[in-house]
Formats: sequence, structure tokens, C-alpha cells
Amino acid sequence: MNVLVLGSGGREHAISWKIKQSPLLTKLFIAPGNAGTGQLGTNVAINVDDFDAIKSFVLKNNIALIIVGPEVPLVKGIRDFFKNDIELANVKLIGPSKNGALLEGSKEFAKDFMAKYNIPTAQYKSFTLANYEAGYTFLESLKAPYVLKADGLAAGKGVIIENDIDKAKTQLKEMLEGKFGTASNKVVIEEFLDGIELSVFVLTDGIDYLLLPEAKDYKRIGEGDTGPNTGGMGAISPVPFADKKFMQRVEEKVIKPTIEGIQKEKIDFKGFIFFGLMNKNGTPYVIEYNVRMGDPETEVVMPRIKSDLLKLLVATAENKLSGKSIEIDERTVSTVMLVSQGYPGAYEKEKEINGISESTDVLIFHAGTKIVNNKILTNGGRVIAVSAYGNNIKDALNKSYEKAEEIQFQGKNYRKDIGFDL
Ligand code: AMP
Ligand code: GLY
Repeated sequence: MNVLVLGSGGREHAISWKIKQSPLLTKLFIAPGNAGTGQLGTNVAINVDDFDAIKSFVLKNNIALIIVGPEVPLVKGIRDFFKNDIELANVKLIGPSKNGALLEGSKEFAKDFMAKYNIPTAQYKSFTLANYEAGYTFLESLKAPYVLKADGLAAGKGVIIENDIDKAKTQLKEMLEGKFGTASNKVVIEEFLDGIELSVFVLTDGIDYLLLPEAKDYKRIGEGDTGPNTGGMGAISPVPFADKKFMQRVEEKVIKPTIEGIQKEKIDFKGFIFFGLMNKNGTPYVIEYNVRMGDPETEVVMPRIKSDLLKLLVATAENKLSGKSIEIDERTVSTVMLVSQGYPGAYEKEKEINGISESTDVLIFHAGTKIVNNKILTNGGRVIAVSAYGNNIKDALNKSYEKAEEIQFQGKNYRKDIGFDL
């Protein structure tokens, strides 16, 4: 079958790499893709939210399955667009409907859903400009630090954690007055949860689910988890503290009630759910839902999946996950993200990249790269994820870091302490 992957990051390269191994695959296309995906299939210059262009490409190229990488097309309703179009009736798509994508697209919707289905999460309330004073009162009822979240999508920047109550109040007012545009017309204020974070993933057809390998992601730019948030600077899978007992709790208290809620709300959800969890003394709390895979988590999750992922995705799209299982590689996989100087702030692009070569146990996933005149150039803040297999975290990281040093481009930056807290 012909497959189209939507997106252009390390996540989409890793998904493409995995799909490429399937005997079910005929042709692979990636829109818009990057220099790495172009080596596995054909890159197509179409934006991920240009539904009309995607439709004509799909029809012309006999695409049987679309895998949606990022959240934006899902929140904009790509599933509904395909479902409602008779010409596209036979095209399968991995990703939830627009109302399902609200689990990521609206923090208030997600929190109300968790409350309704008794899924452990931080205590919260949401506010608009009309009742910001009630927001001040709610802040006063909480203990520092204060967590303020823009309701809508804000490219990962919509969460503010503030220690000082007066500053938190000022932030609340500024957010409601448009600090993050319309995304912060509504703000969720919640209790701060003290613990250690991890990312848990399932593939679901809305009824059954398969648990994928969990991962720990390192979001801050600086070593020791300091400085501004990024899209993610590295990841490790498996996560040692996510032992059998903890994961059983996650399944019972979080995953199963979420899938049940999706059924009760009649949400058409065929795709990945990413549970951003906080482990607080052995109890999992949901910090956020995402309705897609994580990046860079995918760059450690995909290498650990032994089963034919494309086959499982087809089963997902056809409501046939019941009775399916997934085989996981026992080894540890680490990834280290090479980023451009200045990221997550302003950075320059089009720096030539050298030193990309194969080696045992190492997988190179491109993020922000492109090819111009046969040269690979940087094309984003996050440039390349260097993933590696190992017998343990240290062993995997040694291989990731060895390769991270070999790859060269002007202004290359990366965290040297991925996995420091495990
Ligand atoms: P989110 O976009 O909801 O994942 O929030 C971004 C980051 O803020 C998370 O990855 C956490 O590190 C932190 N965070 C969000 N909510 C809370 C909370 N209730 N308690 C502690 N940290 C939080
Ligand atoms: N790595 C976090 C995310 O993909 O949202």
C-alpha cells in the first residue's frame, strides 16, 4: 500500500523509518518531510494543514493510509475532512477527529474530561477576562508555585509556572488580555504537582489499545533541566521508575478510564494518545494529553518496536486492534538532539552539516534539515536526533554522544546530561 506521512520533524523521520521496514509498504511519501525522510521515500511540498492539496495528492497517488505526525492538522479537523468526503471514503487516517483532538487543543476540555472520568490530575479551575478576579481568589487558595495554562495551542509555550503570587496574578491578567493571542482567552489555573515526569503512549482504535514503550523527555535547553523550554532536547526509553507496578497503575487509573471516556463521549479516535504524566510518590497524575506521538520521544520509541507498525496502524484504522499484541525490544534507546545556536530563541538556518554516517546501534533521525545542491543544510531549531541502542542507559548514551560529536555544523549545541536523573 502507499502511505503518506504528514510532518517534517524527527518524529516523522522515525515513523517513516519504522514504516519502511514493513512488507505491506509499496510507496512512501512524506509531506513536507526533511533531508532524512527524503532518503526513505519521496518528499512532497505540501503543508500539513492544506487539506485540499493533501486530498488531490492522495487521490492522484492512490494513498491508502495517512499518518498525521503533528497536532495542528488534527486540531483543525483533518480526520473529519476526510471522513466527510465521499471521494476519500477508502482512505485510512491515523489521528483523532476534531472533537478528540480537543484533548490536546483545549486544556479546559482536557481537564473537564479528566474530572468527569475520574482520571487523576491537578486540581484546577478555568477563567476568562470576564471573571479574572475570581482567578485571583483561586490563586490565593493555592500554594506556590502557581501553574497557569493557556487553554488553546501555543506551540508548547503556553504554560507559565510562577513562584510569586502577585506575579502570577499579573501573568493571569496578561494572558487573558492576549499574551498568547486567542489561545489564552481562557486560562486554566492548576495546583502544582511535585514529582518526576514521563511520557506514556498508546495506539488505540477507540475501543482497544496497545501500550507502546514509555519515554522520558528532557524539555529544558540547559543542563540540569534549566533555562527555557524547548520542543525536547533528548529522550530515554525505557524509564527505570516506570516499573511493572507503576505501569499497572497507569493502565488502571489513566489509560483505561481515558479510553472509556472517549467511547462515552462518542469520539472517533483512531491514533496515538500521548499521556504526559507526573509520577508523584508512585501515583501517576495526568499533566496533559497529546493526540499524537511526542518528539523526541518517537525517536526512542520507534526503535524499540519490533512488530510491523504499519500492520498495526492498518488494524487501528479498521477497528481491529482487539487481540493484537506488540513486541518490544528490551534494549535501552537514547536520543540526543543537536540544535542550532540560539534555539529555542532566534537562530540561523542553512548551515552545512557534515559527518553524518552510519554506525552500529546508531540511528540518525533528521529534524530541521533540507538538501540543497546535494548538501545537507540546517533548516530549523532542532536539527538532528542521534538515537542509539544500548544494554543500559549509559551504554546507549555513550553511542549517542560519540556520534553527536562527529556530526558537525556551525553553532551545533546539545545537552550533555540527557538521562542525568535516571
Ligand atoms: P504542558 O504543556 O501542560 O505539558 O506543561 C508544560 C510543562 O509544565 C510540563 O511538561 C511540566 O513540566 C510543567 N507542568 C505543567 N503542569 C504542571 C503541574 N500541574 N505541576 C507541575 N508542573 C507542571
Ligand atoms: N516532547 C514533547 C512533545 O512532543 O510534546
